[in-house]
This record gives sequence, C-alpha cells and structure tokens, in this order.
Amino acid sequence: MARSMLLVGAAALAGVSLASAQAVISAQGCTSRSFSIPSWFVTDLNASDEGASFSLLNRATNQTAEYTCQGANCEAEEEIEDLVASVQLSGTTASVSVNQTWSCSDRNPQTKFTAAGTASVSLTDGKAASSPLLVKGSLLQPVALTPRYNEGPTGHDSPGCLAKSEKPSWLLSHVIWADQDGDEITSVKEQRLTFILTNLANGYEASCMSQGPVATNIFCAGTEFQSFTIGRYSISTAVQFDPATYSVTVNQTWFCDDHDPAKPLQIAASGTLPLPLECDTEPIPSSPSHLKKFCTVPNTDSTATLSGTLGTVVTLPPYAIEDPVPATQDSCTLSSIYNPRWQFSYFSTYNGSISFEIILQTNRGFRYPNPVYQGEATGDGWFECEMGYDGGAQVPEGPLWPYKCQFAWDEGRKELSLRAEWECLELDAENPVRFSGVSTATVNSNIVCEKVEHREYTDEPLGEGEELTIPEPVGVVDYCYTENPGYSWIGDIKDVIWTSGKSL
Ligand SMILES: *[C@@H]1O[C@H](CO)[C@@H](O)[C@H](O)[C@H]1NC(C)=O
Ligand SMILES: *[C@@H]1O[C@H](CO)[C@@H](O)[C@H](O)[C@H]1NC(C)=O
Ligand SMILES: *[C@@H]1O[C@H](CO)[C@@H](O)[C@H](O)[C@H]1NC(C)=O
Ligand SMILES: *[C@@H]1O[C@H](CO)[C@@H](O)[C@H](O)[C@H]1NC(C)=O
Ligand SMILES: *[C@@H]1O[C@H](CO)[C@@H](O)[C@H](O)[C@H]1NC(C)=O
Repeated sequence: MARSMLLVGAAALAGVSLASAQAVISAQGCTSRSFSIPSWFVTDLNASDEGASFSLLNRATNQTAEYTCQGANCEAEEEIEDLVASVQLSGTTASVSVNQTWSCSDRNPQTKFTAAGTASVSLTDGKAASSPLLVKGSLLQPVALTPRYNEGPTGHDSPGCLAKSEKPSWLLSHVIWADQDGDEITSVKEQRLTFILTNLANGYEASCMSQGPVATNIFCAGTEFQSFTIGRYSISTAVQFDPATYSVTVNQTWFCDDHDPAKPLQIAASGTLPLPLECDTEPIPSSPSHLKKFCTVPNTDSTATLSGTLGTVVTLPPYAIEDPVPATQDSCTLSSIYNPRWQFSYFSTYNGSISFEIILQTNRGFRYPNPVYQGEATGDGWFECEMGYDGGAQVPEGPLWPYKCQFAWDEGRKELSLRAEWECLELDAENPVRFSGVSTATVNSNIVCEKVEHREYTDEPLGEGEELTIPEPVGVVDYCYTENPGYSWIGDIKDVIWTSGKSL
C-alpha cells in the first residue's frame, strides 16, 4: 500500500433529493435491491483441504450467516431456508457458489426471488487475498436476468493504476495558445488555449479548452459526457491558466481499484507547470498596430509533461465503482410490476383518424412521450398502433412506450383503451423484462373541432434545384383535439403479464 497516501475511510453516498421519503425507502428496499444487486459479500473466508469457513451477507436482504464447510458443502450455524452455499478449492484459488431463494415484502405484491452465482478469490495462507468477495448473482425467478453492472470511470482497473497514481503526472498534448490583441473594430480581442490532457496513471483523456474572451478557466471533458455506464463515480478535472506566466494548474479526481476491487480508492491530485511555449507574433493585417500571437510547445505534437502532488485519497465502499447506482425512484421494470400506468397526452382526430402520445410513468426525470397514430383496423373497432419516432434506444431503460399495441376509442364515453406490449432494458439489456397489459381511461377534457384544408404532401425528396411547393388543398376535413393542449391523463394498466425475453 502506498505509504504516501492518506487513507480516509468514507462511505459518502450521494444525497437523495426527493419529496417523498416513502418513495426513497421503497426505491432502495429489499425488492429494488433484489432486482438490481442480487449478490452476496463473503467475508472472513479461510479455506484448506480440511474445510472452510466464511460469513455471507445477502446484499438485497441484508441477512448474514456464518458458514463452516466439510469438503465442498457448507452449513450455516443457524439454518437458513433455501440457501445452498459451497466452496471449491483449486490450488490456491477458492470458488464460492451461492444459490438462494428469498422473499421481499416491502412491495405489493410480495415477490419471491431466486439467484445464483459463483466468484473466485486467491488464497494466501488459506485466507482470501481480498475481502469482502463479491458473488454476483443471476436472477432465476421471478424473471431470468443478470443485472448490469457499470463499467466505472476510465482506467480504474487498468493494471498499475494505483501504483502510478503515487506520482501523479499528466501529459498535455496538442497545446495551442493563441492571443490576439484587437481594437474591437477591425480586429477582435481573443484568447484561446486548447490541449488534450492525459492522466498517465489510468490513461484518461480529456479535451480542454478555454471559455470566454480571457483564458483563465479552462473547461475539460472526457468520456463521462457520452456514457450511461460509468456509474456513480466520474473523473472530474479543474484547470486554470495564467496568461501572464503561461502557467497551467491541473486539479483532477480519479479512481483506482486495480489493486483490490473490494477497496476502491478515490484519488485527488494537482500540479502546476509553466508551459514551455514558443510563439510567433505578427501584426494583424487589417490593423497593423495590433498583434496576434500563436504559441505551441516546440516538439512533436506540442506536448509537455506535468508532475503533480497527491491530495486526499478516500477509500470507497467495497465494489462501489461498478455497482449499480442506488435507485432514488422506480425504474421501468419496477414501475411496470408494482405500479403500472401509462401517461397519455395530445389526443386528436384528423378526418376521423386518431392519434395520441404515450409514455410509461416511471418518474425518471423528463422524457418526451412518443406519438401513436391509427394504423390498420383489426376488427371490433380496434386499430393497430403506428408508433412515431423511436428515440428511446440510447437511454439505459430503452423506450418507455409499447413496441406493439392496439387501441380502441369509444367516442360516446370518451374512453381510450389500449392493449400493449413493452419491455424494460435497464437491468439486463440482453434479457429485458417483457410486459403486456390492458388499460382503459377517459379523456376528461373538452374536445373541440375545426374544419381544416387538407393537403397531400409527398415523401419524395426534392430534386436538384427543385423548390418545396405547398400543394393545393384537396378537400376540407374535421380536426378535433383536446381543448387544453397540455392536457394529459393516466391509465392504470391491468392484467399485466411479465416474462424475461431476448432483446428485440
Ligand atoms: C479460519 O481462521 C480463523 C482465524 O484465523 C480460525 O480461528 C479458524 O479456525 C479458521 N477456520 C478454518 C476452517 O480454517
Ligand atoms: C444493512 O445492515 C447494515 C448494518 O446492520 C445497515 O447499516 C444498513 O443500513 C442495512 N442496509 C439495508 C439496505 O437495510
Ligand atoms: C438454484 O436452485 C434452484 C432450486 O432452488 C435450481 O432450480 C437451480 O437450477 C439452481 N441454480 C443454480 C445455478 O445452481
Ligand atoms: C483542487 O480541488 C480541491 C477539491 O475540489 C480543492 O479543494 C482545491 O482548492 C483545488 N485546487 C486547485 C488548485 O484548484
Ligand atoms: C376522410 O375520410 C374518408 C372516410 O374515412 C375518406 O373517404 C376521405 O378520403 C378522407 N379525406 C381525406 C381528405 O383524406
């Protein structure tokens, strides 16, 4: 362990900001944890050819038990129903397998879970080299799926991450400093610093650039802005620049668990370097009394190495880097099981053809609903849904609307009925949880109609030099819509059936 490091034990979980405390408890309770982290911690493992012993913590229920094993099969001090655990030795490696069934009653209906998993650890003098050992489980019931863990921030597990972090250093490359004087009439005053910052401990790269007319605060961004799979811990960088001395100060926080995933570290370091810039200065052609300066480091790719000093190092909770982020609200899957509801909006009819918008109620921040148009009639007054755009695939939960549905409209009762199939991808994108259910809800708003001219647009792309022309109206049709354009309504989903499926 690095002697120079100051280790501070801390389990700073992100603060939860939510109006309803009740919702927080249930979102992180037994049921939610059983879906997201069906897994166990094994501690105090020691094993030899004679036998083994360990304690086991179920991370969903928080239940613990002490085990002793003769040969491969282990028994708990106090018998735990529906739990089978075993340890297998192979040389200096121990594999712990667990298969357990448990129930959670913090949600209605009460749900029964079965999960199984195996994890290995190397032994030193019969004791586990790393503790606790995480045994990740796959769910077997109520649905078969293997929950997704996060990738974590760049390079956290790359070999040598921690060792190299003891002497923090960064490579600055493609360094450009441009400083232009100006009278703000014929030439503008402008300063611009850009470079790529690479942390040499973990390989993390950020693009850095100055913002605004005076380059002092430098904005740096890496992969964290494009990825949904980093998890709770994201590398952060603060850079300052002094245009008078060309001095750049880097301040970065990153993460290493290559030495032991049970003891992830959050590492902060900073360093300052006067950039060895060489500049070309020349008058601005349109305004020769003003100068522009263009500077680089005079070597290949304009690079400079910055050595830093280590700041505070914090030990994070075991496996926290790749663990799923604790839920503050119900995800697609839990909403669909325990409180399934559609939110509908923008009901309208155009020459008798119905459309509306739909989204699952998951309380997961704002998401645009998806439009549904009237497709083929299926008989008995039902119509196939024709879905509008499908912009949901990039977010972890996937689309929050049906991949298939049919609807019926009872004009007299102003009732919209929907038979829908949808899926939730956030737990296991390869084995999504697939749902079907029916809902009927009243459009409880005045529906107003007007006559509009109907024009037929073609889908054909414009030819060369062709201008978009608005076609002549070919008739007049009724266009009806809810009087309050922002009106939305909720339909409880009944007869919900759910299974695990292969992704579509
Ligand atoms: C495991 O280690 C503990 C403490 O070192 C010891 O008391 C115990 O006998 C060991 N158990 C086995 C099965 O080796
Ligand atoms: C599990 O138990 C520990 C220690 O008893 C407690 O601090 C923690 O809050 C519990 N977690 C849950 C999810 O109940
Ligand atoms: C776990 O146990 C259940 C019975 O409780 C069994 O059906 C299942 O096959 C077991 N799974 C594994 C992976 O051992
Ligand atoms: C670096 O970041 C730490 C923590 O955010 C802060 O306390 C410190 O003042 C920063 N140093 C510089 C030079 O920005
Ligand atoms: C309106 O609907 C009627 C019957 O559904 C159809 O015959 C007519 O062509 C439609 N009008 C337009 C302008 O699409």
